[in-house]
Parts: sequence; structure tokens; C-alpha cells
Amino acid sequence: MKFVSLKYMVVLGIRPDIINLHPLVRELQRRKCDFTVVHTGQHYSYFFDRLFFEQLNFPKPDYHLKVGSGTQAQQLALLVERFERVLLKEKPNLVFSFSDANPSLSGIVASKMGIKVAHLEAGMRSYDWRMPEEKNRRLMDSIADYLFAPTATTRKNLLDEGIPPHRIFQVGKLIWDVLYEFRHEIDRNEIMEKLSIERKDYFLVTAHRPENVGTITPLRNIMEALGEIRKKYGKRVIFPIHPRSRASIKKFKLKVPPGITLMDPLGFLEFSKLEKNAFCCITDSGTVQEDSCIFRTPCVTMRISTERSETVEVGSNIVAGLNKKHIMEAVDKMVNRKPIWKHPYGQPNSAEKIVGALEKRATEIRSPKVWWDSPRIKRSYSISSYVGRWKNPLMPDCTFD
Ligand code: UD1
Ligand code: UDP
Repeated sequence: MKFVSLKYMVVLGIRPDIINLHPLVRELQRRKCDFTVVHTGQHYSYFFDRLFFEQLNFPKPDYHLKVGSGTQAQQLALLVERFERVLLKEKPNLVFSFSDANPSLSGIVASKMGIKVAHLEAGMRSYDWRMPEEKNRRLMDSIADYLFAPTATTRKNLLDEGIPPHRIFQVGKLIWDVLYEFRHEIDRNEIMEKLSIERKDYFLVTAHRPENVGTITPLRNIMEALGEIRKKYGKRVIFPIHPRSRASIKKFKLKVPPGITLMDPLGFLEFSKLEKNAFCCITDSGTVQEDSCIFRTPCVTMRISTERSETVEVGSNIVAGLNKKHIMEAVDKMVNRKPIWKHPYGQPNSAEKIVGALEKRATEIRSPKVWWDSPRIKRSYSISSYVGRWKNPLMPDCTFD
């Protein structure tokens, strides 16, 4: 039989996808794998999208689904309908579904068509069901064929939910790969000179979650807390602001306290440089909690939960809630804590581990999906008996043998 290499499909759609998937794409290129990149188009503004392709030298996507902004249902509906057409045309062996934002749901379409799915950043849990991301994580972890958990905690979360161990791989964090690869470019970046700020002489803030900035009370708390922090510490507060938060400040007629610098979102190199040198990061972002843990910059998370509980466990982060007093208290604690923690993300070789694990399973990936997980049943019905004569009824032209 002629050897045909696996055909992979990488799906991205928002700012952190482009950043985190960079090492994976590099690894696929390094191994000369056959892969296509699909952009769902959920993020499209220059500062959320093209800027990252340019800075990271990320290959141009082969398909663009133009999903854009909309309600959760609108984004999902367009993604499902348009992504199916790409799958029918490309017929990949495996789709990478990254993390927990809406583009990750591309994995559902693939799975329903009998295509194997690898879920990256599997097993993260905030247990906060208000978040669309928590729903996405649970959906993807329950249907993915290969679950790449970043840490021991996330692996345990999956095992506790009954995911069979042979589908779980603990591989570390892609964000650590990318921060390590670009460490010199980050250090050389001149954003601090441009903003006239010194190391440890400013706070860095981001906030974009609808539950925080979509209604007046939490957003007012955040803005007032930032004003108080500015007064108390006499340091500048740099706030590269998400368009949703900027629009809400205007809509709710909130005052921006003096000393708070609002600016458009920054590029990866600029933002990472600011994270590395900040006195403290104050955020509701997921990835910023990880970045600051890696950079040994104290972090305060303005949320009531986190799916990055490891950062709290190692001592780099406090989940403060949205109450002004609690945010201030958490900042006080964090800036007085010695940054001696060790981040829990292992070596910067996560992409290598992911692709390595999949390549080892090439035969299994090419074979049809199995609909059972019990090792006892698996023994009696060997899937190899199907290989060679199995055709996916939903993709009639596509054989997997
Ligand atoms: C999305 C993800 C969130 C992730 C964040 C990363 C989901 C459910 N949410 O949230 O998990 O943390 O991206 O940044 O997938 N907008 C622009 N330009 C753009 C894109 C959006 O101006 O390029 C504005 C639009 O007004 C839009 C709003 O931002 O309605 C929200 O965008 P959306 O992609 O729906 O959600 P995010 O909050 O960015
Ligand atoms: N980031 C950036 N510019 C900014 C803000 C964030 O490049 O102005 C990067 C940051 O380095 C991190 C990622 O974007 O790696 C975080 O993305 P975001 O907070 O939008 O999403 P989340 O991680 O919460 O899904």
C-alpha cells in the first residue's frame, strides 16, 4: 500500500488563536506535513487579526469563512454551514480545535462528519456556566478523539469526567512555546520607550468579557478600582482596550479616571513586552493569566472564576471578583508577594509533543472513528477489520483507507 501522509486542518478565528497556534503551524511545516489553515473570520479588525499574521509571520489562511461579529447563535450557524463545505472539499484526516472560543466548535462539524478531532488546551474548567467558553470546552472535550491537556490539573479534570486515559496527552502550553521562541524580539521591542514608561512603573490592564463589560455595574467597578489604584501607587495604568469595552464606556457614560491611558489593542510583541515589565497585570483575559505566570509578573484576575487554576496554585494570580474593594486588596497582596513561583507549563516543546503523538497514531487516525471507548468491547471488535472497506456515508468520495 502506498504511504500517504496525514492531512491536517488548523482552524483559527480570533487573536489568541493566531498567537497560540503559531508553534503548531511551525511544527507542521518543520515536519513537512500536509496541512491547511482555515480562518473563521470572527476577529477581523487590523489590530485583532492581520497585525498578528504579520508579526508572527503566520502563513496566509487557505480559507476564510467570514463569520464576523454577531450573536453566539449567528456565529455558530455561519461557522457550521461554511466549515462543512471546506471539509467536503479538503477531506482532512484530522482537525485541530483550539481551546474554548467559538472557532473551536469547528470540531463539532468535523466530528459529525466522521473526521478525527484533536482538542488543544483540553480539560480547562472554570465551572462558570455563564461563560460561552465553558460550554465550548465541555462540548469539545466530550467529542474530541485526542485531548491535549496542558497540565496535570487539566488532565485530572478530564479523567474525573470519565474521559478514557488513552485519549488524553499532557503536553504543556503552546503559549510557552511562542513566548520562548519570540523572547529576543519581545525584549528588543520599543513600546516602553514609545510610551515613556520604565520597568515596574506601570499597571497593565485588559478587560473584554461580556459579563464584565457588557453591563454598567461591573464595568463601573473596574474603572473606579483603576482610578483608586492609580492614586494609591502613583503609577500609570496602561489599558489597551477591546472595542466592546470602549463602546460600553461610551454607552454607559463612564468617566475615565486621570492617569489611565486607554489605547487601541497592541501587537503580540508590544503587549508581551509590557506584560513582562509591568508592576502588575490586572485582567479578565485567559491567556494573560498564563503569560504573567510565565513572566513572573503578578496578576490579578477580575473574574469570579478561572479555568487557569494552576496560576492561583503556584501563587502568580489572585481571582479577585468584580468588587472594587476586593480588586484593590488583591493588587495589594500580589505586588507585595515575591515573584518566585515556577510556572506549571513544562518545557517549551508543546507543539512538538502534539504533532509527534498524532504522527505515531497515523494508522488509527486514518481509520474510521470508533463509537465505543470500553477496552473490553474494543478487544472483541477490532477496528482494523473495518479498514479498507469503510466509507463515510456523509462524505461519499472520501475513503480513509
Ligand atoms: C472572543 C472569544 C473570547 C476570547 C476573545 C479574545 C467567543 C465566545 N469569545 O471574544 O473567548 O477571549 O475573543 O479576544 O468566541 N470586534 C471588533 N473587531 C473585531 C472583532 C470584534 O471591533 O475584529 C467587536 C465587535 O463589536 C464584536 C465585539 O468586538 O461584536 C465582540 O467580538 P467577539 O468576537 O464576538 O467576542 P470577543 O469578546 O472578542
Ligand atoms: N494581546 C495582544 N494585544 C493586546 C492584548 C492582548 O497581543 O492588546 C495578546 C496577549 O499577549 C495574549 C492574548 O492576546 O497572548 C490574550 O488574548 P485575549 O485576552 O484577547 O483572549 P483570551 O486569552 O482571554 O481568550
